[in-house]
Amino acid sequence: MPGTFDALSPTPRLRGFRPEDVPTISAIVAEALHEHYDPSLYASLGADWPEGFLVAATEHERPVGFLLGVNQVPGESRVLMFAVERAARGSGVGHRLMDTFLERSRRRGFRRATLEVRVSNVGAIRFYTRYRYSVIDLLRNYYSDGENGYHMARELEAAAP
Ligand SMILES: CC(C)(COP(=O)(O)OP(=O)(O)OC[C@H]1O[C@@H](n2cnc3c(N)ncnc32)[C@H](O)[C@@H]1OP(=O)(O)O)[C@@H](O)C(=O)NCCC(=O)NCCS
Repeated sequence: MPGTFDALSPTPRLRGFRPEDVPTISAIVAEALHEHYDPSLYASLGADWPEGFLVAATEHERPVGFLLGVNQVPGESRVLMFAVERAARGSGVGHRLMDTFLERSRRRGFRRATLEVRVSNVGAIRFYTRYRYSVIDLLRNYYSDGENGYHMARELEAAAP
């Protein structure tokens, strides 16, 4: 049930990705994003910019959410995967992951952040819109089941010195 997480557990803390996170992150991806990736994919995607792969973990180090950001285009960060387990949603974990991701993107000197989202995912689109991402393109048949996606982007201010 959304909102119950904080009442039961201390606020999860953000840390970097660890190889032992893979089974739990895979389960979150299966439930939240309906995708199944090779377990080796996570470490390889996070290798080029480890600071962009953020994990929200309980005091027992169990991941409850994560944001996997990558740098594939010069000057840009891209949210490749972003999900919080169902029981932990609506408690601010997603906001903390996105805030930290954007701050790290700025510190790295990136000037733009991008992502893709299913056109049907109105909750996530609302979340991103509040973060000043806007739709820059329609991606036809972007997802494996044929659903269209939105390409969204926002500018990043230079980091404070
Ligand atoms: C999007 C997601 C990561 C946000 O994480 P979260 O921990 O629930 O986010 P927070 O608690 O910090 O913020 C919740 C906000 O997200 C919005 N939101 C996002 N998805 C929502 C949903 N399915 N239902 C209701 N609200 C949702 C709400 O508008 C809420 O706004 P608020 O600022 O008024 O509270 C999480 O909902 C999730 O994992 N969704 C499923 C996977 C997904 O869609 N990922 C994005 C793929 S591009």
